[in-house]
Amino acid sequence: MKATTMKAAVYRRYGAPELVKIEAVDKPVPADHEILLKIHATAVNSADSRLRRADPFAVRFVFGLFRPRKPILGGVLSGVVEAVGKNVTKYRVGDALFGATAMVMGAHAEYLCLPESGALAHKPDNLSHEEAAALPFGGMTALYFLRKAGVQSGQKVLIYGASGAVGIAAVQIARSMGAHVTAVCSTGNVDWVASLGADEVIDYTRTNLSTFGPRFDVLYETVNKLPVTDGVTILRPGGKLILGAALLKEMLAGGWHTLFSGKKMIAGVAAETAEAAGFLADLAETGRIKAAIGRVFSFEQIAEAHAWTDGGHKRGNAVIRVCGP
Ligand SMILES: NC(=O)c1ccc[n+]([C@@H]2O[C@H](COP(=O)([O-])OP(=O)(O)OC[C@H]3O[C@@H](n4cnc5c(N)ncnc54)[C@H](OP(=O)(O)O)[C@@H]3O)[C@@H](O)[C@H]2O)c1
Repeated sequence: MKATTMKAAVYRRYGAPELVKIEAVDKPVPADHEILLKIHATAVNSADSRLRRADPFAVRFVFGLFRPRKPILGGVLSGVVEAVGKNVTKYRVGDALFGATAMVMGAHAEYLCLPESGALAHKPDNLSHEEAAALPFGGMTALYFLRKAGVQSGQKVLIYGASGAVGIAAVQIARSMGAHVTAVCSTGNVDWVASLGADEVIDYTRTNLSTFGPRFDVLYETVNKLPVTDGVTILRPGGKLILGAALLKEMLAGGWHTLFSGKKMIAGVAAETAEAAGFLADLAETGRIKAAIGRVFSFEQIAEAHAWTDGGHKRGNAVIRVCGP
């Protein structure tokens, strides 16, 4: 008889990592246009940490005012199709897929149903499930913003916060677009970021960027730590300032400081699409992007992965091995 329950990492209240507990919940059944994925690997990302903590408060207006409406977090996965709804034509049972769940969340579980039109693609053969689960969060975010900035070959691009999930994907994707990439991170991550392809790496604990003068065509601030005025100062005329993690205050400052400067601010929420998943798969297959895994946790250690992510100094991705080798 087929199992009707599965293990999932569930949080019933906003708050500390310890509130995330592995529980038995109903195993989902695919609707006509959905596929049922058996999840081999997922990741705990900054988005999971923010949702769990309800930070900023506005999270509650979308995800539940008093308690989380979606008690299973998880926005990325790599796994295998176990069943398909009767109208599904794009994928078959046995296909290995990876991608993002968008607002559905729910990937911190053994199984998840997603629409066949979701932000998914076939997992490249040269990636393990763990590696594939490390691509979509940073990869789709960075791809979205670098495309919005229209990065061109030969441009000078600075990635601020280069050792995080988004930053390290941005370094690699900007390089694949032909840009000259300067990456900014802390001392302990300099060699690691250089090994993933940055042309130059700057240690933010030792260098004051505001003294640089205007020299970059695109600045992608991935972590909301660089003062907006410093960012504007080091952009060339016509340069693009991507505020990928900005809250309202920084967006207003960015808008104000770029208003009369001939520079352009880009902010907002990255879209997760099947096209982006396919694009990342192609980059991975051709070796132009490598999975950046800081640590791998067992499913039972997921609260530990949340705590590591909360710390704000995660290196690359906190991957969770859900099942299989
Ligand atoms: N707009 C969107 O659609 C979108 C999508 C995804 C994520 N985001 C946002 O993007 C942000 C980054 O996400 P992430 O997943 O990449 O985070 P992450 O993986 O948790 O990485 C955080 C990084 O911040 C770096 N950092 C901490 N303090 C720093 C400082 N003072 N200066 C420079 N770097 C510093 C750390 O590097 P060191 O250890 O080297 O300091 C660490 O690598 C989050 O705020 C997230 O909410 C936005």
